[in-house]
Amino acid sequence: MAKSTRTPLISGNWKMHHNHFEAIQTVQKLAYLLHKDDYEVVDVSVHPPFTDIRSVQTVLEADDTPISIGAQHCYIEEKGAFTGEVSPAMLAKLNVEYVIAGHSERREIFGETDDLINKKVQAILKWGMTPILCCGETLEEREAGGTDEKVSGQVRAGLAGLTPEQVGGLVIAYEPIWAIGTGRTATADDAQATCKVVRDVVAEVAGADAAASVRIQYGGSVKPSNAAELMAQPDIDGALVGGASLVAEDFAGIVQFRQNS
Ligand code: 13P
Repeated sequence: MAKSTRTPLISGNWKMHHNHFEAIQTVQKLAYLLHKDDYEVVDVSVHPPFTDIRSVQTVLEADDTPISIGAQHCYIEEKGAFTGEVSPAMLAKLNVEYVIAGHSERREIFGETDDLINKKVQAILKWGMTPILCCGETLEEREAGGTDEKVSGQVRAGLAGLTPEQVGGLVIAYEPIWAIGTGRTATADDAQATCKVVRDVVAEVAGADAAASVRIQYGGSVKPSNAAELMAQPDIDGALVGGASLVAEDFAGIVQFRQNS
């Protein structure tokens, strides 16, 4: 499962931060800080709130900036009476490439279940976009030795019904909940161990080819200072970044992790 065949994906999940003016400023700065040689070795996506996506798209496409547009969430139906929801078809129309599915904040605060998340993964794929399927354990689960079981269960449920080809094109983000927004990062060894568990589950449900090509991100207090060590791990193929992605200089520092290694 040679890592060199998987281009790292560094994604900035802005969560509920930045109005559309702030979003424009942030991507303009990012476009200034990142260069052709960065994009040659790393894929980059930004996931602004829905209200910013059109503005971000306009800025990026005006200059042909190779930063992919991402979304944080979507519903599973194309259209209909679903007040407050946004459909995958609407996101596809905005040239969104990656959609996060099953972030722990969606699971814990908004009650999203494994079953709904699996339907989202399928809907995102149906509209030609790439899901970033999230998994991760709470501190209590970790301390009780339940990390592998929790993460394996979430990954198995999220991938149900997908073909091996679909699974191989996916992104899976391992985000230990206790490391999100806390400044606590999993050690590179711990993050690697759980990302390996994720890859083993993919191999079991979708075969060796899918496991070799699926990209696995680590998320949870990733910063310019720890990105290189995390990214050096054999089963870590990128990062899903929250807080540090709000500041263009910090996010660029993570994308350029090789310069710090
Ligand atoms: P932080 O980088 O702020 O810990 O957030 C991680 C995350 O949840 C990204 O989706």
